[in-house]
Amino acid sequence: MSLDMIIGTQWGDEGKGHITDLLAAKADIIARFSGGDNAGHTITIAGEVFKLHLIPSGIIHPGVTCLIGSGVVVNPAVMLREMAGLAQRGVDVGPGRLKLSRKAHLITPAHIALDKAREKERGAGAIGTTQRGIGPAYTDKVARSGLRAGLLDKPEELAEAIYAHINEKNRILTELYGEEPLDATAVSADYAHYAQQLAPHLVECGLMLDDALQNGRFVLAEGAQGTLLDIDHGTYPFVTSSAPTAGGALTGLGVGPKNVGRIIGVAKAFSSRVGSGPFITELDGELAMRLRGTGANPWDEYGTTTGRPRRVGWLDLNVLHHARRVNSLTEFVVTKLDILSGIAEIPVCVAYDLHGQRINYLPSSLEELAQCQPIYETLPGWDEDIMQVRHLADLPANARRYVEFIVEQTAVPVSHISVGPGREQFIPVTNL
Ligand code: GDP
Ligand code: IMO
Ligand code: MG
Repeated sequence: MSLDMIIGTQWGDEGKGHITDLLAAKADIIARFSGGDNAGHTITIAGEVFKLHLIPSGIIHPGVTCLIGSGVVVNPAVMLREMAGLAQRGVDVGPGRLKLSRKAHLITPAHIALDKAREKERGAGAIGTTQRGIGPAYTDKVARSGLRAGLLDKPEELAEAIYAHINEKNRILTELYGEEPLDATAVSADYAHYAQQLAPHLVECGLMLDDALQNGRFVLAEGAQGTLLDIDHGTYPFVTSSAPTAGGALTGLGVGPKNVGRIIGVAKAFSSRVGSGPFITELDGELAMRLRGTGANPWDEYGTTTGRPRRVGWLDLNVLHHARRVNSLTEFVVTKLDILSGIAEIPVCVAYDLHGQRINYLPSSLEELAQCQPIYETLPGWDEDIMQVRHLADLPANARRYVEFIVEQTAVPVSHISVGPGREQFIPVTNL
């Protein structure tokens, strides 16, 4: 068997949790490989909603082992809270099935305080981070001064490392940002407590996955964030601090490319973005309200992690071309097609106009990207509610045409269409 990947193709929140839950039924291991609790993945099963931030979305399937991989940054308090919430709902989160890589890095209250202080300092230029300490934790990792999860079963080393870490960060917090210092003794006591509970979950991630793959197991890598939030290939600096792309899945898990099977790009039928940064097809006013929803439905466009209203706009095929190139996508899963029902004419951005030239890529310079104008093709809409449709033949012709248009333009097949948040709300696609 192989390693399949589920990758966000846009700015996150494409429905990766929902797709992971769909594919998890056949998987042996579901592994998160990047990001941390900045992610918010929603799964809906028989009307019951699960919102997961750190724990892989396969956890709801009893037979699946879940792994928080080496490339993830882990806030142990959040992990334990999430485990407790799931346990209360009858989900087994014991060390037999929930594993944490020794190489994952720990987020501390100092990382969170720094994330907030840096955002405050950026003022109008703020990135709009989730303020979960993600950037500062990855900064420490790359600076080779991070705290790895492997410390969780070495109480003395952990205490020493926490003291040194908090003392160093206190200097930055107080002297550079004028913030209050943190209490190293209190943080150290908290981490000693977390360590006791999490130590039994520690594993050697790469070894575990190699063993599984060599023995014919099916591993599913669950992406967080999206391609345009990638530290290298996104709209820098309005990005996250990790690689949520296919390359990041390999380095974040410690396995090589020979194992890779399907690389599934999750593409929302329109676009959304949380936080600042360029968004060429962004809408405002009534149309934006129409795509975002009022918040009355659980799937409306409000952040799963922060509750912030998401910015929304039309589908941008340049974004999907970019995702295909960066990730070698084998297929798309198109989500939230149901949201477009009732819109008479649906513009799709097929290229950008940059100084009179038609381009099919995103310029790496934000200045140039800001000068790009979307070139739209308008597709006819459909009136029917499609949330109950389960077969391609039952989709209104124009809804089908919309998906065919994506396939024609990107030359990437679509394997599933999602028409609602529920586990059963999928249309398998065979001949598009
Ligand atoms: P993720 O971060 O990529 O896992 O996506 P989120 O969970 O943050 O946001 C996607 C939202 O859309 C969630 O509320 C999902 O339950 C919901 N959702 C996913 N697919 C569909 C779909 O096809 N139709 C509708 N209406 N909602 C969907
Ligand atoms: P999922 O996995 C949407 C965005 C933040 C901000 C930028 C940097 O649910 O798709 P960070 O806290 O990572 O330093 O913030 O990245 N962001 C996301 N947007 N979905 C996510 O995850 C996101 N994770 C980070 O809003 O713009
Ligand atoms: Mg999300």
